[in-house]
Amino acid sequence: MNITFLLNGREVALTDVSPTLTLLDWLRDTRGLTGTKEGCNEGDCGACTVMVTDERGARALNACILFVPQLDGKAVRTVEGIAQVDGTLHPVQQAMVAHHGSQCGFCTPGFVVSMATAQLNGDTGHDDALAGNLCRCTGYAPIIRAAQAAENQPVPAHMTDAPPAAAANPHAPETADALAALYAAQPDAVLVAGATDVGLWVTKQLRDLSAPIFLNRCRDLQQIEVTDKAIRIGAGVTMDRVRALMTDHHPSYAEMIRRYGSTQVRNAATIGGNVANGSPIGDNPPALIALNASLHLRHGDTRRALQIADFFLDYGKQDRAPGEFLEAISIPRQPDRLRVYKLSKRFDQDISAVCGAFAITTENGRVTGARIAFGGMAGIPKRARAVEAALQGKPWTEATLEAVRDAWAEDFQPLSDMRASASYRLEAARNMLSRYFLEDSGGASSVLEVRP
Ligand SMILES: Cc1cc2nc3c(=O)[nH]c(=O)nc-3n(C[C@H](O)[C@H](O)[C@H](O)COP(=O)(O)OP(=O)(O)OC[C@H]3O[C@@H](n4cnc5c(N)ncnc54)[C@H](O)[C@@H]3O)c2cc1C
Ligand code: FES
Ligand code: FES
Repeated sequence: MNITFLLNGREVALTDVSPTLTLLDWLRDTRGLTGTKEGCNEGDCGACTVMVTDERGARALNACILFVPQLDGKAVRTVEGIAQVDGTLHPVQQAMVAHHGSQCGFCTPGFVVSMATAQLNGDTGHDDALAGNLCRCTGYAPIIRAAQAAENQPVPAHMTDAPPAAAANPHAPETADALAALYAAQPDAVLVAGATDVGLWVTKQLRDLSAPIFLNRCRDLQQIEVTDKAIRIGAGVTMDRVRALMTDHHPSYAEMIRRYGSTQVRNAATIGGNVANGSPIGDNPPALIALNASLHLRHGDTRRALQIADFFLDYGKQDRAPGEFLEAISIPRQPDRLRVYKLSKRFDQDISAVCGAFAITTENGRVTGARIAFGGMAGIPKRARAVEAALQGKPWTEATLEAVRDAWAEDFQPLSDMRASASYRLEAARNMLSRYFLEDSGGASSVLEVRP
C-alpha cells in the first residue's frame, strides 16, 4: 500500500507498505525513533503512545496496535517531536522535570505524549486522560501534579499539525458503496476498523492478514444522526464519540464507557468492531440490547436490519454472511431508564467480569416493561428473558426481586474463569438488579460509579 502522512511535522511517503506493519515497529526499527517504547505490545500500558491528528483533531493512540496504513492522510507526533526543534522543552516536559514525574523513565515518553495531547485539547480530566499510561516506579501523584501545572501554559505552535492529503488506496474505501463492492468481491478479507482487536491478532497471535480492508477512511460509517425517532450511529464511530453522544441521551451508558479500555483505546476502538467481534464480554452489546437497538447490515447493494439480540447466535458465531458488514446501529428514542453496571477487578482499563444493562419501566408501582442484558454470563451477550418475564406486571418492590431469584438460573449458567466464579457472577447479576431498584426508588445514591 502507498501511504502519506506527517511525522513530527515532515511529510513521509511510503510505498509497498505491509498492511500489518505496526507504527511502533516502523518508528523504532526503520526510523530509529526509539523514544516510543514497547511495553506490553497489546494496548494496555501506554508506553507507545503517539499523538495522531486528523480532520477531527488530535488524539492519543497506542502505536503498538496501530497499523501504518491507518495513518494515511494523518499527522503523527512522537515524543521526539514534542519539544521545539531548538530543544526548548514543551510545558508538560518542563512540568515533569519540576514535579519529579519520572524515575526509570521507561513510561515517561508515553505519559508526555498523552499529557501534551490533553494539554493541546484543553482536557483537564487528568485521571481519565492518563488511565491508559502505566508507571511502575514514580507513583501517579507527581505525574498528575505535572499535568495540572502545565494546564494553563501556552500550547507551542508546532503542536498543531495540518494533515496532508491521503494517498489513493483501493483497500481503504472512502464510501460505504465502495466498501460494499470491495467486500462483496473479497469476502475473505479481514475488515480492520480501530484494530484494537485485530492488532492483537498480529502482535500476539502472529496471524498473517493478507490484504485487509481498512475502514477508517470510510466517511459513511462515521456518521451520527439523531432524529425524533432514533439515534443512528455509524459502525465506524469511535468509542470516545459514542461516550460524548451518550452523555446527552443515556448518561449511565456514557459513564460505563469511561471505564472502557483507556483514552487511547476509546480513541481507536469502534462501536461496530465491538459488536461485530461477537465477544461475550464486549461492553456495548448489553447496553444496546437493553435499549432495543437494531443492526443495519449490508452485502453489496442488499441491506437488512435485525434486532441486536438476534445477531449473537452462539459463542464465536454471529448472524453475518461472508462479504456482509455492519453499516450502522440504531437506538430508538426513549425516555432514559437505562443503567449499565460494569464489574471488573480494576476500575480503569479492565475487561468486565460481568456487565449488566437494565431498562425497566414502571407505572403505578408495577413493572410495565423490562429489558435486561448481560455480558460475561454466557457464551454470547444475552438477554435475561426469564427474569424479564418474571418481573412483568409485578409490584416494583424488594419482595418481587426476591421472588424472581430463581429465574436468574433459568437465564444463565455462567462459567468460572480467572475473572470470576460462576456463583459470584450469578450473585453479582442479582445484586445489580437490586442496585437498579435502589437507585430507581431513591434508596441509594444516583452517583453511578465512584472512582476509588
Ligand atoms: C487494551 C484494551 C482494552 C480493551 N478494553 C475493552 C473494554 O473495556 N470493553 C470492551 O468491550 N472491549 C475492550 N477491548 C476490546 C476492543 O477494544 C473492542 O472490542 C473494540 O470496540 C473493537 O473495535 P475495533 O474498531 O478496534 O475493531 P477491530 O479490531 O478493527 O475489529 C474487530 C472485529 O470486528 C470486525 N469488524 C470491524 N468493523 C466491522 C464492521 N463495520 N462490520 C463487520 N465487521 C467489522 C473485524 O473484522 C474484527 O473481526 C479492549 C481492547 C484493548 C486492546
Ligand atoms: S506497548 Fe503497551 S500499549 Fe503499546
Ligand atoms: S518512571 Fe519507571 S515506569 Fe514510570
